[in-house]
Amino acid sequence: METARFGRIGFIMAAAGSAVGLGNIWKFPYMAGQNGGGAFVLVYLLTVVFIGLSIFIAEVLMGRISRGDSVSAFEELAPKHGNLWKYAGFMVFTGILILSFYTIVIGWIFKYIFISFYSLPTTVESAGTLFGGMVGVEWFQQFVFFNMAFFLTIWIVVRGVKRGIEKVNIILMPLLVIILLALFLYSMTLDGFQDALHFLFYPDWSKLSGTSLLKAVGHAFFTLSLGMGTIMTYATSLPKNEDIVKSSFMVAVIDTLIALGAGIIIFTFIFHFNAKPSQGPGLVFISLPALFSQLGILGNVISVSFFVALAFAGITSAVSIVEPTTLYLINRFGMSRAKSLTLISIVTYIFGVMAIFSNVKVYSHYFTYFGKGYFDILDYLSSAILLPLGGMVIAFFVGFVMQKSRVHAVLSKYMSETVFNLWYFSVKYIATTAVALVMINKLFFS
Ligand code: PFF
Repeated sequence: METARFGRIGFIMAAAGSAVGLGNIWKFPYMAGQNGGGAFVLVYLLTVVFIGLSIFIAEVLMGRISRGDSVSAFEELAPKHGNLWKYAGFMVFTGILILSFYTIVIGWIFKYIFISFYSLPTTVESAGTLFGGMVGVEWFQQFVFFNMAFFLTIWIVVRGVKRGIEKVNIILMPLLVIILLALFLYSMTLDGFQDALHFLFYPDWSKLSGTSLLKAVGHAFFTLSLGMGTIMTYATSLPKNEDIVKSSFMVAVIDTLIALGAGIIIFTFIFHFNAKPSQGPGLVFISLPALFSQLGILGNVISVSFFVALAFAGITSAVSIVEPTTLYLINRFGMSRAKSLTLISIVTYIFGVMAIFSNVKVYSHYFTYFGKGYFDILDYLSSAILLPLGGMVIAFFVGFVMQKSRVHAVLSKYMSETVFNLWYFSVKYIATTAVALVMINKLFFS
């Protein structure tokens, strides 16, 4: 059993580092752009406040009390049938699926850091060709950058909770905030700033379809790293006497502010240059570099800063994605950290390579199953099915299975009675029902 604990600031940094990731800077802006802006943002914010934060506290609570990996947590905390509840710990394997495609995207970002120095594409068309070529044709380059991202992540986690994860987060998170702040201040001077605020904060309800409503709910899970035991696992290394409610609240606030800040920066550029907000996943990789290139050398500086920030955000999340499976193998099978990571790496690496080739045109047919490429299957299976399912299981477990007295005993130190009752109601009824709706929608209607 590992006993290393985060320092006081270390836990918040690590949990915020996990939450703030590609989901905030890459996914959130393009999803807001595709789903009509303000109304989508409002639903996402309401979900974070009323569902996400509640499940976040539930995960922290489980990790804090059990101090074990996610499988043992269910086993130990269930008053009876612990041997059956341990299967709820299936979520420790979700990370393997997410990491394999997440590190591919970090690899793309690494390549864009290089491009930003010397050869930004000058038109949106050439930017599209560049991105399409990287993903669909020149597999070797993509493969090299994937390897860099993959082994960097594993190396950090091999170093352990304190020397690896905590250290990286304590260095990278403040740098990320500084870069984003500088970009934010710059974007305030551009004409597109007002339009960006209007787009993101004035809800136009006519643009919100049923599907986008549920997408906003699903994204709140992804962005807060909920539903696969990441937060639970980090919480096993909480320092003694940490106010878990305050820390959870702070992480949710940091995550939300960074998503909104990144959204404002990106849409300021989009509107400043009259580009379209609804371009989907290419928004950051295709539109932005082309727009930056119009600013000359300043554009190169902004572009490098932006992609470095994105890489930092991605790496601090990637390490959190591997940690639950690592702790599980260490705790349950007495493996060393290095051995457990070797095992995880072998599986994840194979999945990653398959995902890369599923996007390469000449090989894609070997890696297409049920009409979907392997890359998309990994993304879909994890964010549409496994994360929401994991979140629902956690909410159900804490709300209905764990003894209320046990839950109350810990949380009452940090919450008033009214807040506790509200939180308990939210975990029991709102979180479970809302997540069931997200899943039913994803599985049957989209
Ligand atoms: N929250 C991360 C992001 O927004 O990019 C992604 C993520 C990390 C999801 C860790 C799940 C997880 F366990």
